[in-house]
Amino acid sequence: MKPGDPKAVQKLFDSVAPSYDLLNDLLSFGLHRVWKKQLLLWLAPTAGEQWLDLCCGTGDLAFALARKIRPGGRVYGVDSAQQPLDLARKRGIEESCPDIYWLKKDALNTGLPPCAFDGAVMAYGLRNLTDPLAGFKEIHRLLKPGSRAGVLDFSHCPEGSKRALFQRFYLRKIVVPIAATIGYREQYEYLEKSLRNFPIGSVQEELALEVGFRTAAYRSLAAGQMGALILNT
Ligand SMILES: C[S@@+](CC[C@H](N)C(=O)[O-])C[C@H]1O[C@@H](n2cnc3c(N)ncnc32)[C@H](O)[C@@H]1O
Repeated sequence: MKPGDPKAVQKLFDSVAPSYDLLNDLLSFGLHRVWKKQLLLWLAPTAGEQWLDLCCGTGDLAFALARKIRPGGRVYGVDSAQQPLDLARKRGIEESCPDIYWLKKDALNTGLPPCAFDGAVMAYGLRNLTDPLAGFKEIHRLLKPGSRAGVLDFSHCPEGSKRALFQRFYLRKIVVPIAATIGYREQYEYLEKSLRNFPIGSVQEELALEVGFRTAAYRSLAAGQMGALILNT
């Protein structure tokens, strides 16, 4: 599968949805939870706020946000694929979590009102968008002045660096073989492909500033394997 095709991306995430959470835990050795927790520590959502979880998948960050914005807050989990959203909605019912709305929408064109949110997160979503600049534009459009956003994803490591070698080893020798055991070889081979044209941290900063964010700071996580872009309007 080639990155940048929204229909194919949707199909891919619909197909992996039933095993997505399990594979996330296995393939990151549970560390994705630590990185998501760190992202929210940096962003500091507080009671009563309205937050967006764009490309929410099965809703990890939306649930974590919901715990932080009570009482009086609201979280909107947005994803373009139906299966992850269905799982998120089911979990919301099981965990009696009425303060999250689940919306099937394109993160590039949510149709949500402008300047309506106190904060936004996007974890492992930006890499899948046809156009990261358009993604930043939409996040910026949705946020109130004086709010913040965090974009967490794999780092695009400099070619030839030790970090890049380690990433290639990890993706090819650990991620793909494990995913293949349950029938998801092609879906997880996509991960390395999706990183090829993914902007490096400093370019992400530039793109975000270009669309109007007041500040943009890329912070490394997991010895440079992951990164979080912290934005302020
Ligand atoms: C790797 S998953 C990440 C899920 C979740 N944020 C997490 O960290 O576990 C990427 C998600 O982005 C969604 N996605 C990809 N392109 C999208 C788009 N244009 N609009 C909305 N969601 C999109 C996929 O459907 C998928 O659920």
